[in-house]
Amino acid sequence: MSNSERVVLVLGGAGTVGSGVVKALLEKGFKVAVISRDGNRLDKLKSFVSPNTRDNLTTLVGNVGSEEGAEQVKEALLKTTGKVTDVVSSLGFSWWQGGPPHTQTVKDLHWVMETLLYSTFVSWKAFFPLVKDNTDYTYTFITGGAGEKLLMPGTGFLTVGAASALAFCQVLREEYPEVVCKMNQVNIDTGVATPDRMAPGYLNHLDLGEAIAALVERRSTSHTVYTVKCPEDLKTVLLDQNL
Ligand SMILES: NC(=O)c1ccc[n+]([C@@H]2O[C@H](COP(=O)([O-])OP(=O)(O)OC[C@H]3O[C@@H](n4cnc5c(N)ncnc54)[C@H](OP(=O)(O)O)[C@@H]3O)[C@@H](O)[C@H]2O)c1
Repeated sequence: MSNSERVVLVLGGAGTVGSGVVKALLEKGFKVAVISRDGNRLDKLKSFVSPNTRDNLTTLVGNVGSEEGAEQVKEALLKTTGKVTDVVSSLGFSWWQGGPPHTQTVKDLHWVMETLLYSTFVSWKAFFPLVKDNTDYTYTFITGGAGEKLLMPGTGFLTVGAASALAFCQVLREEYPEVVCKMNQVNIDTGVATPDRMAPGYLNHLDLGEAIAALVERRSTSHTVYTVKCPEDLKTVLLDQNL
């Protein structure tokens, strides 16, 4: 199956990480679909990708964080693209620093869990059945190293939410050891930014996007966790190990 026959659904594709992945996949000739709750973000994404690849980008407004919303947008997506061969799940938020736990409310924690864990779970439940039985298909989760440590004071709920997403991915690997589609996780243990917001040690979302697009293209491994801690790891961890 050539790249042009593959349809990659990038969940969170309008976000910082997701937009880099979308652009890189389009450059490689894939068809790409993106769902966002916000039509303006989708318009911004359309103007961000290269004009000569724009026709291969399908955008839909929808909420993959609710069971009903995910089913609705899945139906609309399949009507437009006919199929989904690959999923990249990059849901969540870039940063959270609401304060130490004693200053927070259950509502705050709920929002964090909804955004990092529930959306990942609900969308997986809706879209995994489309890809799970085909060895040529893939499902790739993007997670954050914040799940393993407190990044700095006041970021505690980010750790709680990110840790839940890490645990969910582990559960999937262990519950579904025989699943034939290529199910992998890229755990990013550093910041990711657009070129105008880079800081030392950060990954440029365009470089990260290229490395993730290469992983999806090669589909040579499954049930693997790739941990990326610095820009050099994009080559040594993601690209070389996947040749
Ligand atoms: N940025 C970093 O520095 C960094 C570092 C390490 C790991 N990560 C990981 O990368 C992932 C993405 O982060 P990001 O920086 O790209 O965040 P982002 O810019 O806030 O993008 C996240 C995307 O998730 C989408 N989303 C969340 N809930 C949704 C829902 N219910 N329905 C539809 N879309 C939903 C948002 O879509 P809408 O358009 O609908 O708002 C948004 O486009 C996260 O898991 C994060 O842990 C990021």
